[in-house]
Amino acid sequence: MTRRDLYRLGNVILGGAIKLAVAVPALAFIASPLRKKAAGQGGAAAAGEPMETLATLSQLKVGQPQSFPIIRDRTDAWVTYPSEPVGSVWLLRQPEGAKPEVVAFSAECPHLGCAINLTPDGSEFLCPCHTSAFDLEGKQKNQVPPRPMDRLDVELTADPDPKVKVRFQKFRTLAEEKIPLA
Ligand code: FES
Repeated sequence: MTRRDLYRLGNVILGGAIKLAVAVPALAFIASPLRKKAAGQGGAAAAGEPMETLATLSQLKVGQPQSFPIIRDRTDAWVTYPSEPVGSVWLLRQPEGAKPEVVAFSAECPHLGCAINLTPDGSEFLCPCHTSAFDLEGKQKNQVPPRPMDRLDVELTADPDPKVKVRFQKFRTLAEEKIPLA
């Protein structure tokens, strides 16, 4: 092997090493959010949603739905946005002796996902986007929504003024069935 051949071989090896040194960290950076998602850290998986305290029972007025925001750290592929509203929940305290004592509805419209409001007189729920209407039990009042408002799991603690805990979940829109999103 001549000195020139050795020089060329050295160049090839050095060039390959430099490409590897650049490519490996770059690939690791690109793959990192995908690994996080696979490990369940990249977003809230519906099945594993914790119950979270939204109010105490004494804060709720019987027969009057009240809205509570859901605040979470939101993570997209690359960035974490701390303490952002990701949805809201309507809580409705039932009359004394009724079971369950508190009902929770997702405020996300089952039609196309807009936020459902309460009418000014508090007599029904109304979605401003395409006029889906629901009664205070969450049942459809017109043909626009494909299903009733989505009920959420609720638990009351055993405290003297019980904490109202809700499992916040999102569900597929435009479906007649309530299908949790992963
Ligand atoms: S998104 Fe609510 S009516 Fe269409």
